[in-house]
Amino acid sequence: MIGSAFSTYRRPVADGQSIGEEEPGNRWFMHSTSPSRFQVSAMPPSLEELARDLDALGVSAFLAAFPDDRPRLADWAGPIAALPDDVRPIYEFLLLGRPTDRALLPPSIHTCFPALEEAAILNSRGETAQLAEAVLMRPTGLWLFAAPPSPFETDLYFGADSIQLARHLDIRPGSAVLDLCSGTGLQALLAAERGATAHAVEINPVATAVARVNAALNGIADRVSLWSGNLFDPLPTGKVYDQVIANIPFLPGAANGSDGFDVGREILRELPSWLAPDGTACLTALALTTATGIVLPEGLREFADHTGRGMVVALGERWPVDAESSLVQALADEAADDGGDFSECVEEAVQAFRRRDVIEARTAFVHIGAVEDASPITILEEAVGDRS
Ligand SMILES: C[S@@+](CC[C@H](N)C(=O)[O-])C[C@H]1O[C@@H](n2cnc3c(N)ncnc32)[C@H](O)[C@@H]1O
Repeated sequence: MIGSAFSTYRRPVADGQSIGEEEPGNRWFMHSTSPSRFQVSAMPPSLEELARDLDALGVSAFLAAFPDDRPRLADWAGPIAALPDDVRPIYEFLLLGRPTDRALLPPSIHTCFPALEEAAILNSRGETAQLAEAVLMRPTGLWLFAAPPSPFETDLYFGADSIQLARHLDIRPGSAVLDLCSGTGLQALLAAERGATAHAVEINPVATAVARVNAALNGIADRVSLWSGNLFDPLPTGKVYDQVIANIPFLPGAANGSDGFDVGREILRELPSWLAPDGTACLTALALTTATGIVLPEGLREFADHTGRGMVVALGERWPVDAESSLVQALADEAADDGGDFSECVEEAVQAFRRRDVIEARTAFVHIGAVEDASPITILEEAVGDRS
């Protein structure tokens, strides 16, 4: 369920059912208290061969025909049903997560089965193979196994904010980039693909294992180092980065502060010692709109004042704060997990926003500038869609 703390829960997929054909949904992940800590090793070259075959089979061209920031399996299903018999099973298996007769899949997919099984995103039973939890997508032109956007909790988060953050990044070739809360790796992969050396840290080893597959699939495993652990903990001592990226969990709640920015504040505390003086950072956050203006999470203004770094906050998607909104439902879901009645928790979440005169919430992309760029905090409006 959305809104509950990080767990290794994996949503079961019944035989014959595809993955993630729900409404596009949310992002809500918290940090676990006992991370494992490892750096992943090299992957077999079979994944790169698979990527070449997918291009040849037209899969990249197919996916390029759909908007990549809100992948909807339901939109892909119709055109896939019309594909010729010899290629349709490949699309159904990889893009729709359908159980598929192994004999109908090409050798390049078979040779990847061990890597996909090791990353726990393949169930292979007898004659049938099916992706578990993840499907193959192609945001920003990169192959990515991840959970399609969904209101259900997943270890393999991918949402509209993932790609919106990726689009906010200005990556310099040759730079050193750190992606915190890296999940299945989109931002780190993008940095590496654009010529940076990317380090990525994700607390959930399940997601890190899939990020490793994704790096290999895109042929950039040699430029991405992945660790599983808490924020800066696993990183090489003394390392400094030209850019730090973090799509943090930003659901308010017991585990992440009443403004959903505890993980963000933890990052800000350590950021100055990991960022080169001319380095920059880009974090996600939740900003609230009240009658008197935008309320940013606590700690951002103080960070700008103390470090002398300028800050630009780009306000993205709008989230209503009424009882039907997915934000309120997610908050209530989190509270109900701790033993409350769901309807009462919805009412309490709505009232809590009302008490603070909140009209709506906004996804915010916080750009932190170099030390010499000590301009005041600037707030920008982006052209955006609305959540319900
Ligand atoms: C919203 S997802 C972002 C994933 C990916 N970067 C993306 O944009 O699709 C947030 C991720 O942060 C991870 N996370 C939460 N707390 C963390 C922490 N303290 N250290 C590292 N990762 C953390 C979660 O497991 C989750 O994968």
